[in-house]
Amino acid sequence: MVFDTFMFKDKTIIVNPKNASWVVTDSEARNLILSKKLKDMPLDARKAVKKSGIFSEDEFFDAKHDLILGILAVTKGCNLQCKYCYADAGIEKGSMHLSAAKKCIDFLTDSKFKRVTILFHGGEPSLMGKDWFKEILLYIELKRKKHKKKKINVRMQTNATLIDEEFAKLLANFGVKVGISIDGPPKINDRTRPFVNGSGASKSVLCGLSNLQKSRIHPGSIMVVSRLNFDKMKDCLKFFTSKGIDSVKIIGVSCLGRSAKNKEYQITPMQYYRAIKDATDFCLKSEKKITLTPVSYLIYNLISKDRSYMCLRSPCGAANSALAFDCEGNVYPCDDLIGKQQYVLGNVFKNDIAEVLGSKMAREFRKRTVSKIEGCKKCTWRNFCGGGCAGRVLLTYNTLNHSSDICAYYKNMFPYLIRLLYEDKEKVFEKLIK
Ligand SMILES: C[S@@+](CC[C@H](N)C(=O)[O-])C[C@H]1O[C@@H](n2cnc3c(N)ncnc32)[C@H](O)[C@@H]1O
Ligand code: SF4
Ligand code: SF4
Repeated sequence: MVFDTFMFKDKTIIVNPKNASWVVTDSEARNLILSKKLKDMPLDARKAVKKSGIFSEDEFFDAKHDLILGILAVTKGCNLQCKYCYADAGIEKGSMHLSAAKKCIDFLTDSKFKRVTILFHGGEPSLMGKDWFKEILLYIELKRKKHKKKKINVRMQTNATLIDEEFAKLLANFGVKVGISIDGPPKINDRTRPFVNGSGASKSVLCGLSNLQKSRIHPGSIMVVSRLNFDKMKDCLKFFTSKGIDSVKIIGVSCLGRSAKNKEYQITPMQYYRAIKDATDFCLKSEKKITLTPVSYLIYNLISKDRSYMCLRSPCGAANSALAFDCEGNVYPCDDLIGKQQYVLGNVFKNDIAEVLGSKMAREFRKRTVSKIEGCKKCTWRNFCGGGCAGRVLLTYNTLNHSSDICAYYKNMFPYLIRLLYEDKEKVFEKLIK
């Protein structure tokens, strides 16, 4: 049994990387544990060490998840010109015909999966208009009637600028869950996410948010962390809570699409760590409860063996629990890869989901597990982080056999969260876990 150790103050974190378990000890207990002399420990301490599982011979394995997320990039167009947009949206036009969207929905809902989530994405999906969405949402209703035992969820990720009251009501009537994108207060968001003509979009975003809220849709937000906001988490989160947003997903800007050209927005993994840590600290002190992704899932992975969040799994969700679709019905392992012809797994007009998931490329993605990735094989955190986002790794290093592009963030974040759990587990649960 090989343990890894990390110090904080006078304490030691002892991790068994093979089965994803850990314990925090003082120096006396540490020495007894490392020399495997558990018998010499007081009974209570011995029980706690046993309960932690660090002496278990079991290896970590992830249970199968019977769900599929279908990400439909329904248009390549956009009314914004976000400085970092990985989809390079707004320049190339093209949108998904109703027949292609229905075929994607058949492809997903007629599959073996018992839980299906359809996510409208882009480009900016609301550009498709209310009539297009009404027809598609009615079609999904028919599918729900056909597959009564399945759970079919619908989501939309939008910049919110075009969501008027009528659009919001339509989405609410069909139970669509909505995520909006906003990078912080207008002084930040107007710089990173302007309209095509360069003017700030925040006013329209907030109007869209308010229309959604009036229709009883309470969107969570995606905040992209870039050079402009990585050190301003407190301001950003304060702003979000003041607007009634209580669920925030914080994504580090990837160096893809437009952000590969606009290098001034890029951040280092340690700057991302700082942003997530500051956000976590803010939420711990906040009166209002804010659900922070990925923090809540990093914590789940530390306290349970279930890996419900597909981006922190090994193999990750790509070509496994998730598939992405372009306007022509081509299928990709994840949305980062949309438009990259070399990664097309099949097409909804020609293939069924079994063929697509059985394709050579899909199998290559599912073979990417931490026990096989050169840089991850021996890492302490391999069964907690899952090796990072396969799509981003592939596009960054041109191979799947590479550790995450943000390793330094994981390697600092896990010890930090263990420390928080050790110091005040109840508070962490109360403030950071749903
Ligand atoms: C491509 S957009 C499509 C949906 C919609 N137009 C929107 O902005 O919400 C999906 C999400 O990806 C985020 N995003 C875009 N470029 C990114 C990048 N380079 N790195 C990380 N996230 C990015 C956006 O901020 C948005 O939250
Ligand atoms: S991130 Fe969304 S809103 Fe911004 S340019 Fe890309 S597709 Fe448009
Ligand atoms: S991605 Fe990085 S932090 Fe995660 S297991 Fe691999 S080497 Fe470790």
